[in-house]
Amino acid sequence: MLTLGIESSCDDTSAAVLEGDSGLLANVVSGQDTIHARFGGVVPELASRKHLESIHPIVDEALDRAGVCLENIDLIAVTQGPGLIGSLLVGYSYAKAISYVRKIPYVGVDHMAGHLLSVFLENEQPTFPYIALLVSGGTSSIFLCKDFNSFELLGRTRDDAAGEAFDKVAKILNLGYPGGPCIAREAEQGDKTKFSFPRARLEGNSFDFSFSGLKTAVLNQCNRLKQKNTLPTADICASFQEAVVEVLVEKTLAAASKYDIDTIVLGGGVSANGRLRQAMKQKCRTMGIELFYPRPTLCTDNAAMIALTGFHHYRKTSSTPCGHNEIIDYDSDVYSRSKLW
Ligand code: KG4
Repeated sequence: MLTLGIESSCDDTSAAVLEGDSGLLANVVSGQDTIHARFGGVVPELASRKHLESIHPIVDEALDRAGVCLENIDLIAVTQGPGLIGSLLVGYSYAKAISYVRKIPYVGVDHMAGHLLSVFLENEQPTFPYIALLVSGGTSSIFLCKDFNSFELLGRTRDDAAGEAFDKVAKILNLGYPGGPCIAREAEQGDKTKFSFPRARLEGNSFDFSFSGLKTAVLNQCNRLKQKNTLPTADICASFQEAVVEVLVEKTLAAASKYDIDTIVLGGGVSANGRLRQAMKQKCRTMGIELFYPRPTLCTDNAAMIALTGFHHYRKTSSTPCGHNEIIDYDSDVYSRSKLW
């Protein structure tokens, strides 16, 4: 079975072709960093206009690279939400149109579920149940993943997502966009113990996150140092990154311990962060927990994870009596908030 995945939830236009549940034949991602960099963040209107230009050539390129054509595709899996409505609409309408004209079934996929399952595109795969730390530009959350279609939310961000904090701190320091990789690069040269930034642990051992206080603490520190004309950018980056990583690792391990789970999976753009991987690996080793994460290109937004998630959703739902009709609903619309919480 061949699934064509389409992703356009934010500022990456992506298309992928997946054979069965793990044979990735193509995964093409076209980013828009150069368009949004000068604004220090994604401008929704510009993003959707660029998706309109890119969607057709990117889908064509994915089919070409996979060595197949639309006639060979059995299923279209497309991101339905969450994300920027204008961006989502481009991919979703495109998928519906191909589905209708070519009579190929399509399935709407929750982008967050895609991140939770992206690790199954790798050779080394976890077994269910596992605790997933999902850290991206839009969310920081912890899930108990029970199977390919069942995810229980244990905790989520109450304000800024981890990736958003990276992006905002990079903007304060004029490091460029997206901020995460810029901060990670600077942090390599810095002293992570130089500044003691706050770690929000929240009441009652909650698995929720809060990063807005940390971001404000960095801003205040930078303002103070700028007045003295001394801004040790690398040390600030390393200390900020350490504060984020410490809380992410601590809460994920606490969730694994509470639910007695011995497997942890990372997903989302921030999980490409080297220091997060290293710190999580160290702690998991000492606690006898198995750790899995996708390669960096599958951590950030991509259509491969959407194809995989859609494949599993379709396989489960289409086996029920009215499943097929439930999935293919041309009146359905995109949504901005995830259905996983
Ligand atoms: O998952 P993603 O591509 O898009 C969303 O669905 O949000 O994540 C993008 C986020 C951005 O905030 C970016 O700064 C962050 O992931 N990011 C990183 C790294 N690479 C990307 N954050 C920290 N370290 C990185 N190496």
